[in-house]
Amino acid sequence: MNILLLNGPNLNLLGEREPEIYGKTTLAELEALVYQRARELGAEVRAFQSNHEGELIDELHQSRRWANGVIFNPGAFTHSSYALRDAIVACKLRVVEVHLSDITQREPWRRVSVLEEVCAHRVLGKGVAGYLEALEWLLK
Ligand code: DQA
Repeated sequence: MNILLLNGPNLNLLGEREPEIYGKTTLAELEALVYQRARELGAEVRAFQSNHEGELIDELHQSRRWANGVIFNPGAFTHSSYALRDAIVACKLRVVEVHLSDITQREPWRRVSVLEEVCAHRVLGKGVAGYLEALEWLLK
């Protein structure tokens, strides 16, 4: 199984960005945890992070034949990006939407996900463990 681990805007600052909300684990540490768990489960992971909507779309397009599933934290694009929503549908990818925080318990604008309907599953508010849960869900 091939899994794309995709992180959107501002997630490159994990560890220093609002640690009381997003935790102290850096993106490199998070990616290493996912790589390690994937190795144990016999899956291959490719990780990519971008602050740019178009680069995330390009990565989905490029991975559409390689990936059997996608673990995707779209950051704030979650709440606004119809272009990412269209890309997920166009690529026919099985995507798990992951958020470190529980977006349903935060500001009203953050409670809306325009991607939720086109994702196969979502994991909210479990911090870094949520990425591992998403991986295991995709592999089960
Ligand atoms: C986030 C939640 C989003 O609302 C926010 O813009 C992020 C991170 C999360 O992981 O909890 O950048 O996706």
